[in-house]
Amino acid sequence: MLFVCLGNICRSPLAEAIFKYKLKKKGLERFFEVDSCGTSNYHIGGQPDSRTIANARKNGISIEHCGRQFTIDDLHNFDYIMAMDHSNHRNILRLLEFEGHRDKVMLMREFDPLGKGEEVPDPYYGGEKNFQEVFEILDRSTENFLVHLQLTILQNS
Ligand code: 4NP
Repeated sequence: MLFVCLGNICRSPLAEAIFKYKLKKKGLERFFEVDSCGTSNYHIGGQPDSRTIANARKNGISIEHCGRQFTIDDLHNFDYIMAMDHSNHRNILRLLEFEGHRDKVMLMREFDPLGKGEEVPDPYYGGEKNFQEVFEILDRSTENFLVHLQLTILQNS
């Protein structure tokens, strides 16, 4: 699965790191390809934002990621493409070449029981409180998403 935000330095690398942490805890990491990227080209080759790294560390998660931009190939290569907000979601759908790929593109908070369908707010211009809020949203959403995946795999096996 591919997590997507605007800059690929705050929300999506954190979602990637939390999801990988959850997979590892369940011994499932070898079954999934997990990555993140941004719809913009602002931070290609860059490290995650230092405030994201610090907040993740505070919550027991370490992040390793090098910023990259979303490409059309991603629509072919990933089964689940998780957008952080409506703007990311719209911009990904603009690149759709096959209608069959439409259902792969989802909003992360479709899986948040405390804010279904809402956006993961951009913390870039915010403070620690905003980064912590993003952490909690992503922690809940990725947990629920993983349960959804496990159920889907069980139903299809
Ligand atoms: P992200 O946050 O999309 O969660 O990585 C942002 C990072 C950088 C910028 C905007 C949002 N920026 O404008 O540089």
